[in-house]
Amino acid sequence: MAGFPEYRPRRLRRTVALRRMVRETSLTPEDLILPLFVRDGAGIRRPVASMPGVEQLSVDQLLEDARDAASLGIPAVLLFGLPPLKDERGSHGEAEDGVVQRAVRELKRELPELVVITDVCLCEYTTHGHCGLVEDGEVRNDPTLEMLARQALSHARAGADIVAPSDMMDGRVAAIRQTLDDEGFSEVAILSYAAKYASAFYGPFREAADSAPQFGDRQSYQMDPGNGDEGLREALMDIDEGADIVMVKPALAYLDVIWRVKEATGYPVCGYHVSGEYAAILAAAERGWLDGDRAMREALLSIRRAGADLVVTYWARNFARSLAGN
Ligand code: PBG
Repeated sequence: MAGFPEYRPRRLRRTVALRRMVRETSLTPEDLILPLFVRDGAGIRRPVASMPGVEQLSVDQLLEDARDAASLGIPAVLLFGLPPLKDERGSHGEAEDGVVQRAVRELKRELPELVVITDVCLCEYTTHGHCGLVEDGEVRNDPTLEMLARQALSHARAGADIVAPSDMMDGRVAAIRQTLDDEGFSEVAILSYAAKYASAFYGPFREAADSAPQFGDRQSYQMDPGNGDEGLREALMDIDEGADIVMVKPALAYLDVIWRVKEATGYPVCGYHVSGEYAAILAAAERGWLDGDRAMREALLSIRRAGADLVVTYWARNFARSLAGN
């Protein structure tokens, strides 16, 4: 490699056009997935205080936001459900007329081209707020698998294109794949939250999804933040069980894991820019401490640069709109 003065990196930074020509990583609306929170009722938009711009929506309102996202070139939405009633076992999660199932049916009827991804988990639906069945104060792995598989199946029956298990029980990808295949849904894809860390950055989401654990924490099933090798093992394991896309979550604090998973697997990788990562930028912007729009764009670009093909972000529509404005 040539050194100074033969090589002057600044030559290609002189103008906007030059910088664009040699830019290595792109971020476009097509790379983004918009999470949406759906609840019962009609005409409802309930703001989430800790996530500016994010609202819990009734199905009719959800359709409007999804239509807006689609018109901005965002290819997919990721649905989280707030059930009218929770119970010990999270039964609403697999109800045929459940809130997510109804939203999926409406979305596929109104916007057939839009890819509908559903979060598969128990925490939004259980009174205790844990992601699996609780027995004797413990989150039990194997008895949870069939619940998750039934929930995923109910989403597939409603028309979901992709189901996304976020519970972190061992073996759930295989259980879901098997059930979907047995029931004739072999074309429905699985996006597994493969390397999902026990993170403080999920704080605001738990308000949005009303899913905070009522006792203890999630450290017995979500990953230890110190573990990179294990993140890779989790991804390989999920791929082996039938995952089509693997996710690393959170994204910003785990860019190294995104990189390693992409390098090692070559599979489509998704980074989840989570609620706390989103809220932190907006809170600082609100104080005038940084330019929120630019900081958000830079953060999302870094997730792509680390190797993610897809990025889940609450900022998806804002990003697409700011591009359209440029
Ligand atoms: C539920 C789930 C969580 C998130 C996505 N699915 C929260 C958790 O595990 O506590 C977090 C998303 C975010 O913070 O934006 N299993």
